[in-house]
Amino acid sequence: MNEILSDNAAGVMTITLNRIDKKNAITAAMYGALADALAQAEADTSVRAIVLQGHETVFCAGNDIADFLDNPPATPESPVFRFLRAISTCAKPLLAGVCGPAVGIGTTLLFHCDLVYAGDNAAFSMPFVNLGLCPEAASSILAPQLMGYQRAAAALLLGEPFMAEAALEMGLISRIVPPGEVNALAQQQARKLASKPLSALVATKRLMKQAQASAIAQRIAEEGVIFGRMLSEPAAREAFGAFMDKRKPDFSGAC
Ligand code: COA
Repeated sequence: MNEILSDNAAGVMTITLNRIDKKNAITAAMYGALADALAQAEADTSVRAIVLQGHETVFCAGNDIADFLDNPPATPESPVFRFLRAISTCAKPLLAGVCGPAVGIGTTLLFHCDLVYAGDNAAFSMPFVNLGLCPEAASSILAPQLMGYQRAAAALLLGEPFMAEAALEMGLISRIVPPGEVNALAQQQARKLASKPLSALVATKRLMKQAQASAIAQRIAEEGVIFGRMLSEPAAREAFGAFMDKRKPDFSGAC
């Protein structure tokens, strides 16, 4: 089955995470398909807005842990880095529909979306430290900036999850609706955008984003180096092994 679906209609490219049995955990192959879909949306002049969505029960459980261990991103051309570059530099309006768990990259990718619609069941978390890892997707800049330092520290250092109401108050999401209405609302808003002049949309987004565009690109690369190194260290090995064995991690031997 195709784990990344893309559909182009009425000026909107809709990209759907479609691996529900694994809670939409993202493999290297899926990162590659996501990067390709975003590149295709950018290149296609009939596309004026892009929607990224999951299922009404789950948005994304983050990186696929087993796949990450088997295929750690080794170079800047690795699928995960291609995806991060594509989403963080996306010139066209990017919307997301989020329901249920949004873990790790499932939350951090939202920092790069222009409008995010969430179900009242949405649960956001960035448990990188719990996994012996560091933030990615420039979330080490964007989380403190958007959420305020203390709330970012609770989310990134303690790994505390937060729900849709808190995300709305912080400005991470645009609106909360019942889960069954999320993807339809994202589609409706995307079609509104698609009825507007593309050049005006692109110029406006670029002007809003350009002040820190190079800092974001630099931070994604810097985080990537540290994240990549940490993947092979004992703390991550223990946490990932514990996840796969369905047990509690024991960090006593991992510094
Ligand atoms: N990588 C690989 N497989 C994953 C996964 C991930 N990140 N998240 C979930 N899965 C798999 C589970 O192993 C399980 O597979 P199985 O049916 O073959 O046993 C299946 O998806 C269902 O997951 P389960 O944990 O039973 O669902 P749940 O509804 O109880 O919990 C989550 C959903 C998302 C809260 C939970 O799966 C979770 O915390 N996942 C890990 C998130 C994470 O740490 N991501 C890494 C961030 S860098």
